[in-house]
Amino acid sequence: MVHQVLMDPHTYDKGGPLFDRLRALMGDGLVTCRQDAHRRQRRLVQPAFRPARVAEHARLTGQEARAASRAWRPGQRVDVTAEMMALTTRATSRLLFSGSLDAGRSATVRDCLGAVVRGLFVRTVVPFDAPFKVPTPANRRYRDALARLHALVDEIIAERGRGGAAYDDLLATLLEAADGATGTATGATPPGEREIHDQLVTLLLTGVETTAMCLASAFALLADHPEEERRLHQEVDDVLAGDRAPDHADLARLGHTRRVITETLRVQPPGWLFTRVTTRDTELAGQRLPRGTIVLYSPYVLHHDPASFPDPEAFLPDRWLPERAAGVPGGAMLPFSAGNRKCVGDSLAVAEATVALAAVAARWRLRPPPGRRPVPPRPAVTLGPRSLEMICAPRRPVPES
Ligand code: HEM
Repeated sequence: MVHQVLMDPHTYDKGGPLFDRLRALMGDGLVTCRQDAHRRQRRLVQPAFRPARVAEHARLTGQEARAASRAWRPGQRVDVTAEMMALTTRATSRLLFSGSLDAGRSATVRDCLGAVVRGLFVRTVVPFDAPFKVPTPANRRYRDALARLHALVDEIIAERGRGGAAYDDLLATLLEAADGATGTATGATPPGEREIHDQLVTLLLTGVETTAMCLASAFALLADHPEEERRLHQEVDDVLAGDRAPDHADLARLGHTRRVITETLRVQPPGWLFTRVTTRDTELAGQRLPRGTIVLYSPYVLHHDPASFPDPEAFLPDRWLPERAAGVPGGAMLPFSAGNRKCVGDSLAVAEATVALAAVAARWRLRPPPGRRPVPPRPAVTLGPRSLEMICAPRRPVPES
């Protein structure tokens, strides 16, 4: 049924409370736009995710993850979620604005995204605005963070508009299209200033938190599954021969690392619940759905169905060994959705998460603090540990400096 919905985007369009609220926040970018605007927008954004870009992105993320985790000290308590958010903020910002983001701006983006994401879910599930208009500290924090994020994106666009160095990033692609170059070639309407802004905010809000949640969930699951962790360490040691930064070329040999990421995406898919709205009267599984009906689908529910995944609550990366993965029913695993609204960043996110996991695992075993009790995942716009304190145990002697 989910497949039927996803493969018929003209009948089941983006809409419903989640996307209506997201639209108010992100504007009309690729995630929220209606079907009639989608094809053009997807073509505009897609070049940022071509294979050569993904490879370069993985290389730089591997280096950044290695550098970030080298700053940790033995015995230090780190908030793994915050660290992964910082990493994916840098990685996504680089993809969107490359050199336009210095350390200060990067920190602003990270702080604002944190505040916005915290406030977002409640706004998508509460069907009226009144509670959010009261000037409570939480509401003010949310509004200020959102305003700062939008202002920063405007500032970066304005700087680029004044010329200067040539960049190879999504903003450059959009500005080139705005100049008419791409638009003329494809016959599509060039993006205006508002749309460029909306696409950048959209990709920041979708790209950062999802991948960070996937990585934080992976570290939490590995701490509870020492045998899987041991196999991961073994593979990383073999492939990286000690302490080299992982790179895109290593992905083919990081098979178990990649399966850990895939199984994490199954057990705890960061995107766990989405809505669609019917654009005409239709029927689904013998049920009549009038035009305007809200339909929900949940990758989490699909991923925990015992008919598709035996022992669905167990964390078993080997499910994804090629010979076993072939037995997973089609459409049972949808961490990135399916159809024409499938995640545009799927390959990039998997490459980013795999190299980041390998870079950290090359040096550290992350242990839960003594007495920590498992925290059940708290649903928000994304699913995953909102905060995850862990202790850094070195896997080999760490140099003093
Ligand atoms: C582990 C990380 C990620 C997960 C689990 C994920 C998941 C998803 C899912 C499930 C959808 C479809 C939503 C729906 O059906 O309504 C989606 C769409 C989308 N994602 Fe991702 N995503 C991830 C990373 C990223 C990254 C890194 C980017 C970009 C930097 C990105 C950009 C987008 C965009 C633009 C769409 C809308 C695509 C369209 O409608 O054409 N995502 N993502």
